[in-house]
Amino acid sequence: MTLPIYVQGAWYLGALLFIFGLKGMGSPASARKGIVIAGYGMLLAIAATFLIPGLQNLALMALALVVGGAVAWISGKKVKMTDMPQMVAIYNGMGGGAAAAIAAIEFAKGDAHSVVTTILAVVGALIGAVSFTGSCVAWAKLQGVLKKAHRLPAQNAVNVVLALVAIGLGAAMVAMAPAQPQLIFAFFAVALVLGLIVTLPIGGADMPVVISLFNAFTGLAVGFEGYVLGNPALIIAGIVVGAAGTLLTQLMAKAMNRPLTNILFTPMVASGPGEAISGTMKEVGPIDAAAMMRYASKVIIVPGYGMAVAHAQHKVWEMTALLEEAGVEVKFAIHPVAGRMPGHMNVLLAEAGVPYDKIFDLEEINGEFGQADVALIIGANDVVNPTARTDKSSPIYGMPILNADMAQNVIVIKRGKGTGYSGVENALFYTDNCRMLYGDAQPMAGEIIQQLKAMG
Ligand code: TAP
Repeated sequence: MTLPIYVQGAWYLGALLFIFGLKGMGSPASARKGIVIAGYGMLLAIAATFLIPGLQNLALMALALVVGGAVAWISGKKVKMTDMPQMVAIYNGMGGGAAAAIAAIEFAKGDAHSVVTTILAVVGALIGAVSFTGSCVAWAKLQGVLKKAHRLPAQNAVNVVLALVAIGLGAAMVAMAPAQPQLIFAFFAVALVLGLIVTLPIGGADMPVVISLFNAFTGLAVGFEGYVLGNPALIIAGIVVGAAGTLLTQLMAKAMNRPLTNILFTPMVASGPGEAISGTMKEVGPIDAAAMMRYASKVIIVPGYGMAVAHAQHKVWEMTALLEEAGVEVKFAIHPVAGRMPGHMNVLLAEAGVPYDKIFDLEEINGEFGQADVALIIGANDVVNPTARTDKSSPIYGMPILNADMAQNVIVIKRGKGTGYSGVENALFYTDNCRMLYGDAQPMAGEIIQQLKAMG
C-alpha cells in the first residue's frame, strides 16, 4: 500500500528529530534538550501512524498507548538515579520484543514478501527476541532479583548449538515461506531461550556493556522490521540506535579493558589468590580532612557509586565552592565506568551545578594526580584500585584506573570496609598516604563543610 505523503513526510521529520536529539545528547549541557527533541520526534511518528488510511484496531492501539504511556510516565518519575541502568535494560528489552512481535505478525499473516525482505524479517526477529529475554535477565540481575550468575556445564558449546539451531530454523522459514505455524513457534522459542542462556552466566559488573550490546541489537532489529513494514521512521531510528549502541559497547569494553568476547563468554572471576596487601587502614576525622584540603594548593575529587547512593553531589559542590573561595584549585576526575551506568557521575555533578570545565575524563586528568596535594575519593573503590595495574589474577586486572594513589595524600570517604562492585579488596586504602573518613558520603561532606566554614 502506498502511504499518503503527509504520513511519510511526518515519519521522515520524526526520524530527523531523533538524529538532532541524539546529537544534543552528545554533551551534558544539551542532553536534556536532546531528549525533548527526540521525544517530539517520537510523538510525531506515532501521531502520523494514526493517520494511515484504512487502519484497523484503532481502539486497541490507543489503549496500548495509554497503558504503555502511563507505566512509562509513572516509573520514569519514580525511578531512582541508581536504578536507572535496570530501567534502561527493561525498556530496551521491550523494544527488541516489539521488533520480534512485528516479525511474528508478518510471518503469521503469511503475506508474500521478497526473499530479501523475509531474510531481514527473520534476522530482525532473531536478534529482537534475543535482546528481549537477554535484557529481562539483565534487569533481574541489576534489580537484585537474580543474585547469582548461572553457568551451565559446557556453556559456550550450548550457546553455539542454540544459535545454530535458531539460524537453521530461520533459514527454513525463508526457504519454506510462508512458514507453518509450528516452525514459526519453534524458531521464536529457540531465539528467546538463546537470549536467556547467553545472558544468565554474565556477572553484574559486565551488565552495562551487555545492556549496551542489546541496545545495539534492538536498534538493528527495529531497523530490519522497519524495512519489512516500509516505515522510514523505524528504519532510521533503528539504525541510529544500532550505531550508537555499538559505539557505546566498544567504548565501555575498552574502559574496562575487556574484549567483548571475553565479557560474553568468560566469567569475571579471580584466577588466583591475589596479591598480598600489606599495611593497615588509617582513620582520619572530618576536622583533619577539612584542614588537609583547606591548606592544599590542588585537590582532585574522585566520585564513585557511593556518592550516587548517598545523593551527596550537592554537598560535594558546596564543599568545592568553599575550597575554591579559599584559593584551592579543585578538579573532578571521572572514570568512564564510575557508578553504575555510562556518564553516571557527569549527570549527578551536572545536576548539582558543577561547571563542565571542572570535570575531567581519565585520560585528561591522570597525569595531574602527581601534582595534587589531596585526592578526595567519595564513594569510589574499583576505579581507583591499583591492583588493576599489577595483579594478573584480579578480575579487574587491566582496567585503566584513576591514579589517585599518586597524590601526596589520599582521603577516602566510605561507610566502612566494604569492597566495590567487583568484590576485590583495594590496596590503595592500606597505603601510607591514605586516610579513611568513615561515614555516609552526604553527612561526611556536610561535616567537612562545617569545618571549612569554621576555618574561614
Ligand atoms: P564501587 O567500586 O562499586 O565502590 C563503591 C564504594 O562506595 C563501595 O566500596 C562502598 O563502600 C561505598 N559506598 C556505598 N554507599 C556509600 C555511601 N552511602 N556513602 C559513602 N560510601 C558509600 O564504585 P566505583 O568505584 O564507582 O566503580 C564502579 C564499579 O561498578 C566498577 O567495578 C564498574 O565496572 C562497575 N559497574 C560500572 C557500571 C558503569 S557503566 N558505570 C555499571 C555497572 C557496574 P562501603 O560499603 O564501605 O561504604
